[in-house]
Parts: sequence; C-alpha cells; structure tokens
Amino acid sequence: GAPVTADISALQEGQRLVLEWRGQPIWIVKRSKQMLEVLPTLDPRLADPKSSTDQQPAYTKNELRSIKPEISVLVGLCTHLGCAPEMVAEIKPEPFDPEWKGGYFCPCHKSRFDMAGRVFAGVPAPINLLVPPHHYENDTTIVIG
Ligand code: FES
Repeated sequence: GAPVTADISALQEGQRLVLEWRGQPIWIVKRSKQMLEVLPTLDPRLADPKSSTDQQPAYTKNELRSIKPEISVLVGLCTHLGCAPEMVAEIKPEPFDPEWKGGYFCPCHKSRFDMAGRVFAGVPAPINLLVPPHHYENDTTIVIG
C-alpha cells in the first residue's frame, strides 16, 4: 500500500483523526498534558508497560510510544480479535475498573488500553496496540507507511 499523508494542523487536544492505511484504521490522537501525566502512573497495572513484546518502530520505543509527546499514532484494531476499540478521552470514565484512566476500550471482550495504546494486565488482548511506521514531513504533516 502507498503511504498516506495527514494534516494535523487543526487537531485539538483530546481529538482523534482516523485514516485508512493498508485497509487498517489509523488513529492520530492529540493528547493533553493531563493525559500524558497519567501514563507513567499506570505502569504497574499494565501487561507490557515498556512495549517489549509488541511490534513497533524503534523511534517510538519510548515512554509515550510516540515521536512527539502529544501526538499518538496507532493502528485502531484490538490486538485480541480485531474489533474497533472506542476512544474514551475522560480521565475517570468507568466505575468497573477504577484503575483505568481512559484511553481505549474494546466493547467486544472489554480489553482496556491507556492513551499510549498500552494494554492493561488481565484483559483478553495479549499485546499493546500496534504503532504503524510513520514520520513527520513537517511540523503538522504526518506520513503513515
Ligand atoms: Fe477486543 Fe476481544 S476483540 S477484547
């Protein structure tokens, strides 16, 4: 598949842009400062906080799984059976898991992910959401692929 280009200049905090690349949904999400601050506090609840077992580009092998801190780029498919997780931008969304601080929730079998796409321990999804290959053409243009 050919690379896909996205203009993120109008993307606001807490918003998600959805594109398609190689038949897969690609999410580009602008995270707020608060969302970023929550991420390190979640590590003890996650299956693989350092993304050691999943497949992702070396340039996103960092704490936030991203090139720019605020911009997260993910493949929008649950790593369990491929359902479409919902984005929940509130930090305290759900009473059924008080330790989940928002992020992505898969309605099929209740897998939870944080705002970096990292999977919580004890849910059906075995690995973190994938990060597709991507780079910045300029400050506000991302190329996927
Ligand atoms: Fe997402 Fe099963 S497909 S939890």
